Amino acid sequence: MKKVALITGASSGIGRELARIHASKGGDLILVARRRERLEELKNELQQQYSVSVIIMAKDLTDPAVPGEIFTETIRQHIQVEYLINNAGFGGHGMFHERSLEKHLEMIQVNITALTALTHYFIPHMIANGLGRIMNLSSTAAFLSGPLQAVYFASKSYVKLFGEALHNELRNENISVTTLCPGATSTEFASTGDLEQTALFKGNARSASSVAAYGYHSMMKGKRVAINEPLMGFALNHLLHLFPRKWVIRASRMAMEPSRKEIKVGRQVA
Ligand SMILES: NC(=O)c1ccc[n+]([C@@H]2O[C@H](COP(=O)([O-])OP(=O)(O)OC[C@H]3O[C@@H](n4cnc5c(N)ncnc54)[C@H](OP(=O)(O)O)[C@@H]3O)[C@@H](O)[C@H]2O)c1
Repeated sequence: MKKVALITGASSGIGRELARIHASKGGDLILVARRRERLEELKNELQQQYSVSVIIMAKDLTDPAVPGEIFTETIRQHIQVEYLINNAGFGGHGMFHERSLEKHLEMIQVNITALTALTHYFIPHMIANGLGRIMNLSSTAAFLSGPLQAVYFASKSYVKLFGEALHNELRNENISVTTLCPGATSTEFASTGDLEQTALFKGNARSASSVAAYGYHSMMKGKRVAINEPLMGFALNHLLHLFPRKWVIRASRMAMEPSRKEIKVGRQVA
């Protein structure tokens, strides 16, 4: 296999689009997600369209053994993974104490622990091969605290801080670490996380293909942090700290509340 990218969460949304872009450049793929049929469909599409090799691994990243199994399988098959894209992740709307602890811990397992474990397995392999590119999916949420999505926002802060540190640690190793921080994007993310009625997702969400294209380009350039919305990026990096943190957290909560339109409809129905 050549120029192999391992992409987690490749069965939908941003991950699926990243797989399409990588295949369009002639790169082979290892696709990871739980939904095998989706991965099979994508594999057939990419193999027919671009004559690339695609391996699928239908795995549940809430299982702590899975990152190790994925790594062992690539070594067993003598596959040199050049690109590691830790994209799998999910959110969940609601008051922290009212959502199940099990769901919170699963979120931490997928968004943080599996991403950390895969990165730990593959870095020595990349160092031995003399090259590598890693991209981790964070979010604009990484810059904020997120009432009504407390664990999700915190998990994405971890991903960003972790990625920035590794970007520095690996600067002399020919391995780049890019943290992609998208804003609201049209994927299955909102429905999976009960976020469809929130003000954030009632606004303008970007397409998964545009976010993936921006992320892929940033990864190839070895960018440290990539925010696909330039104005948002400027505000998060340069303006946020000018406001009292209390206000910022309130604004963040407003984005997670039902949109005004929904409240109006709700009142009419009630
Ligand atoms: N959409 C947004 O607004 C947005 C904004 C900022 C950041 N992000 C981040 O972007 C990444 C991709 O999300 P998306 O928007 O493309 O959402 P999506 O369409 O829901 O895709 C999520 C992917 O993660 C996989 N996944 C979820 N739980 C998994 C598990 N337990 N084991 C293995 N795979 C699992 C899903 O596959 P299966 O269900 O088949 O397992 C799916 O392929 C996430 O990390 C998300 O936090 C999204």
